[in-house]
Amino acid sequence: MGRVALVTGGSRGIGAAISKSLLADGHKVAATYAGNDDAAAAFTKETGIKTYKWNVADYDASAAGIAQVEGDLGPVDIVVANAGITRDAPFHKMTPEQWKEVIDTNLTGVFNTVHPVWSGMRERKFGRVVVISSINGQKGQFAQVNYAATKAGDLGIIKSLAQEGARAGITANAVCPGYIATEMVMAVPEKVRESIIGQIPAGRLGEPEEIARCVSFLVSDDAGFVNGSTISANGAQFFS
Ligand code: CAA
Repeated sequence: MGRVALVTGGSRGIGAAISKSLLADGHKVAATYAGNDDAAAAFTKETGIKTYKWNVADYDASAAGIAQVEGDLGPVDIVVANAGITRDAPFHKMTPEQWKEVIDTNLTGVFNTVHPVWSGMRERKFGRVVVISSINGQKGQFAQVNYAATKAGDLGIIKSLAQEGARAGITANAVCPGYIATEMVMAVPEKVRESIIGQIPAGRLGEPEEIARCVSFLVSDDAGFVNGSTISANGAQFFS
């Protein structure tokens, strides 16, 4: 059944693959982005998916943007909180700004994205919430105290939302991608990246589409009893 889906950070990387997958599933999709106008325009040209620009770290901007999406497409039944950033540094070098920027975007951004659609989902007795966490929220990562904290926080969020939403027909689940071939991972110094790939039993980075297929399943009407769970898609790099 076609529904209205909102994907934050949905015009690039894993988010773009998720937007496309949900469109292929027959949903009406809105993709948000924060800054890269050219990438968003190219994405819309390629897919026909409308993009909306706002900063997920800003509650008022998120609420206003979501109201605009709902005016254009209808009430949001599927929300995928995917937008995220890295500001990697060993802890002794990490600045308060690097900490705050990542917390505001990756963690508060999830609150700001889900909270404005939550009451509507409760009233309509249907909702699908998926948060894109990370293997590094499960195992921690050198130089990612900030990022790992947010990605571990995502798992607390979905487990709590799952309990609150279950009787209202709302599910909340997470996907924990391992290292996926996106700009974010390609920004890691090559030597470090090669050593990370060496730790992946699959012997390769994952593809964004391999994460998107997990999301397509979790948001389907058929997945109503899968609630509060985490799908790890990491090529056997880590088991939690
Ligand atoms: N494990 C152990 N040691 C590591 C390391 C790691 N993963 N990464 C770096 N180091 C070491 C370096 O070899 C270096 O050691 P020496 O001093 O003995 O040479 C030291 O740590 C870092 O030294 P610097 O002071 O020069 O570090 P820096 O301030 O220049 O920072 C860095 C470099 C930011 C840590 C860089 O190495 C880096 O980006 N590392 C990768 C971090 C990472 O894996 N991020 C994940 C991004 S992908 C993502 O986040 C998506 C997802 O969800 C999976």
